[in-house]
Amino acid sequence: MKKILIFLGPPGAGKGTQSQLLQERNNYLQLSTGDLLREAVKEQTQLGLKAKSFMEQGKLVPDDLIIQLIDQKIQEIPDKNLILDGFPRTISQAEALDKLLENQNLKIDAVILFDIDQEEVVKRLSGRRVCQKCGAVYHIVYNPPREDGICDKCGGKLIQREDDKEEVIRKRLEVYNSQTIPLVEYYQDILIKIDATLDKEEVYKKIISVV
Ligand code: AP5
Repeated sequence: MKKILIFLGPPGAGKGTQSQLLQERNNYLQLSTGDLLREAVKEQTQLGLKAKSFMEQGKLVPDDLIIQLIDQKIQEIPDKNLILDGFPRTISQAEALDKLLENQNLKIDAVILFDIDQEEVVKRLSGRRVCQKCGAVYHIVYNPPREDGICDKCGGKLIQREDDKEEVIRKRLEVYNSQTIPLVEYYQDILIKIDATLDKEEVYKKIISVV
C-alpha cells in the first residue's frame, strides 16, 4: 500500500463524494465502512443482521464488529493509495487501527477533516440520492443526475438512503459530536482541515493540493 488517508467529518460533509473522485481520477481506493455495512445488510449476512438496527437508528455499529471488518478488508487491499472513509469513528477504533497498521509496517499519512456546519449537512443529506446499483452519489439540487432518478454512470435507479430522514440525520449528528469529534485531538499531528462548504470541484482541488 502506498498512501493511507483518513476522511473524517460529519455525515453529509462530502467524504464519499470526494473518495469517489479520487478513486476515479487518481490512484486511490475507497474503503467505506458505511458502504460495506449497507452491502452486508442487503445480503443479510451475519454482520448485516447485527448492524441493521444500529444503522436505522443513526447509532454507531459496535466497535468489535467494525474492527473485525476492517482487519479482514485491509489484508485484501491491493498495492494502491487507500482512503478510509468513515473509519475510524471512535477512539477505540483509532487505537485498533494503529495496532493493525503497525503489524504491517504501515502508517497513516494524513487525516483530512471536512469542515462544515450542521445546518448545511442537513440540507445535503435530505437531498442526497444514491445509485442502487453502483453507489454513485448525487444531490437533487447541488449535483443532479442528467435524467431524473437515473444514474449517469450505470443507468441504475437512484434511491434515498433509509438513514437520510431528518430525525435520523439529527441522531447521526449527535453521535458524531459525542463519539467521533474526540478524534480531532487524537490525530492533531497529522490533521489537515479543509473547507467542505465549497463546490465539490473546489474541495477536490484542495484535497489534491494537500496530499
Ligand atoms: P456512512 O455511510 O459512513 O455515513 P456518514 O459518515 O454519516 O457519511 P455520509 O455517507 O452520510 O456522508 P458523506 O460525508 O460521505 O457525504 P456525501 O459525499 O454522500 O455511515 C452510515 C452508518 O453506518 C452510520 O450511521 C453507522 O451506523 C454505520 N457506520 C459506518 N461506519 C462506521 C464505523 N466506523 N463505526 C461504527 N458504525 C459505522 O455527500 C452528501 C450529499 O452532499 C450528497 O448528496 C452529495 O451529492 C452532496 N455534496 C457532496 N459534496 C458537496 C459539495 N461540495 N457541495 C454541495 N453538495 C455536495
